[in-house]
Amino acid sequence: MKITLSVIKADIGGHVGHSSSHPAILEIARNILQDEKNKGFLIDFYVTACGDDLQLIMTHQHGVDNKDVHAMAWDTFKKCTEKAKELKLYGAGQDLLKDTFSGNLKGMGPGVAELEFEERKSEPVIIFMADKTEPGAWNIPLYKMFADPFSTAGLVIDSEMHGGFTFEVHDVIENKKVELKCPEEIYDLLALIGQPGRYVIKHVYRTSDKLYAVSTSTSRLSLIAGKYVGKDDPVMFVRAQHGLPAVGEVLEGFAHPWIVAGWMRGSHHGPFMPVGVEDATPSRFDGPPRVMALGFQLANGMLGMPRDMLKDKSFDKARWEALKIADILRRQGPFEPHRLGPEEMEYTTLPAVKKKLKNRFQDI
Ligand code: F6R
Ligand code: MG
Ligand code: MG
Repeated sequence: MKITLSVIKADIGGHVGHSSSHPAILEIARNILQDEKNKGFLIDFYVTACGDDLQLIMTHQHGVDNKDVHAMAWDTFKKCTEKAKELKLYGAGQDLLKDTFSGNLKGMGPGVAELEFEERKSEPVIIFMADKTEPGAWNIPLYKMFADPFSTAGLVIDSEMHGGFTFEVHDVIENKKVELKCPEEIYDLLALIGQPGRYVIKHVYRTSDKLYAVSTSTSRLSLIAGKYVGKDDPVMFVRAQHGLPAVGEVLEGFAHPWIVAGWMRGSHHGPFMPVGVEDATPSRFDGPPRVMALGFQLANGMLGMPRDMLKDKSFDKARWEALKIADILRRQGPFEPHRLGPEEMEYTTLPAVKKKLKNRFQDI
């Protein structure tokens, strides 16, 4: 059975500040998606939140980039925004960058990760959701899962994975894409994705049969809006097992708190802390950046009961390490590399400061 998995998210208002979402908003989204399921438009859905981002997880048979699916998600965000405005939630509607929907969510603000695929005999899928960071935050974990044999044992000892995986990388500045085959082109891949503010992994597929295993959201809000509008807070999902990385190999990508861009005012490096759903509430210095993961066993498109994958005790050390890194970086205050470089900062007073001091600068 061919199904489409669409994970579509937007920050439509935070409670309190940018730290979390309001239950009333989730309820509105659930009611709308339930209606769509009752009508048969959706097969199934699950609504959740990661920090201040509302997450719509949907299965259907309309394919990717479907106008009606995207329009429905857009309308859901709009209706939720009305309530967010009524409750005066912080930054109500902040990710809805355009006034009218024009056929596709691309360039409109919300993040989209989608794949159409033949549901396998058993189809474990893990949906990762992040807050207070950018789409390039997925680069290291995806590299670990699909290209690093020290992380994923199956690359070495599973004959179905031994042929390697191909990464589709997007240049989000120039709007170009390139496919790189691993392990053959690992060094080229790393040369690009080591710059996560620009090169972002969009898809990964098994090279031998082009089975797509990964889709990520790649929208960069600041590039769309041309100014600061909040971090993108990306999503992605990964299909697992049976010739793909095992669930444990997928999760191993988050066994260490990688340092990512985002955090306070989208202008700081911070540790990417793996957490359970109830801890996806960035608080200290509006962070540190969070990642949570829900696992599903699809059954004819039905999502079934989710599992909170990163809540597990085995990630306690990564959380502790993240808090330690947070302390080390925080101590550095306004100095790089805690603060991002000038071209990456979402908030800056630098041009104004330079202008003010222009006449006081003397030749050396
Ligand atoms: C990060 C984020 C927050 C805000 C910060 C200041 O993505 O959204 O850290 O940037 O809380 O927000 P304002 O300027 O609205 O007070
Ligand atoms: Mg927000
Ligand atoms: Mg957010």
